[in-house]
Amino acid sequence: MNNQTQLNLVIGYPLGHSKSPMLHNFLYRRLNIDAVMLALAKTQIKDLVGVIKKYPVGLTCVTMPHKQSILPYLDVMDNRAKAIGAVNTVINKRDKLYGYNTDIDGIMFALSRVPIKNRTVLLLGAGGAARAVAYFVVKSGGKILYLNRTAGKANILQRRFGGKIIRKTDLGKYRFDLIINATSVGMQPNAKDSPLDKKYFRPYQTVFDVVYNAKPTKLLTEAKVAGAKTIGGMEMFIGQGVKQVELYSGRRITQNLISQVRKLMSGN
Ligand code: ATR
Repeated sequence: MNNQTQLNLVIGYPLGHSKSPMLHNFLYRRLNIDAVMLALAKTQIKDLVGVIKKYPVGLTCVTMPHKQSILPYLDVMDNRAKAIGAVNTVINKRDKLYGYNTDIDGIMFALSRVPIKNRTVLLLGAGGAARAVAYFVVKSGGKILYLNRTAGKANILQRRFGGKIIRKTDLGKYRFDLIINATSVGMQPNAKDSPLDKKYFRPYQTVFDVVYNAKPTKLLTEAKVAGAKTIGGMEMFIGQGVKQVELYSGRRITQNLISQVRKLMSGN
């Protein structure tokens, strides 16, 4: 680090669990990018945008609860971010803020070996992460069944992306090939919770949990016992982070380097 080193940030609240600095700082070193990422936890988006513009910050990873509240401060938004209505990445170029959504890339990366076309997907949750999942599933030709604690929020997604809203009591009536948890249920410190009863798991299913804890979530542990294929949230986290670094640096990150990132992240 020197006085030329570019400051990058991850912003959100709270941020105790953020692994973005670890992933970014590792890749910056490997790619000889003179930048460092720090975490800045604040509740007010206005204050955070002030910091981004003042220093200025080059790349900002945007996480909960700011993925939507930052939109009015952006100068340019890429098409996917517009379609989803949320950004997780802001790049500051000549005092203009460009917004992107690489959560989609993370979901694509995590589900790269899972067939989706004409398959039925049970989507748990209807927040920002669920929007990105719905966008990807629809683009890939899958059919969505929405299940959310608050029905009104599932309605918004259904109007935007199509599919069908179901109730918990109707779960037994449907067959789903893929189950995706896009709620925060199961996240530390509530690792004992699961968003879906284990009686709904089948060996032909794939279960993907966007939650990333050090250990597999209860949802994934129970799905595995039932013989289903499981994919953890760390895959999505790596996919979205790698894409952020690619957008920022204009460089392609090799499979070999991705394997190193995976090793680094699994050891922490
Ligand atoms: P993110 O941007 O990570 O998706 P979010 O927008 O706050 O975060 O969305 C969190 C999702 O988890 C929501 O769908 C929320 O359900 P509600 O729409 O009813 O709020 C869901 N969620 C969070 N805690 C939950 C819980 N204890 N039980 C069921 N669903 C929960």
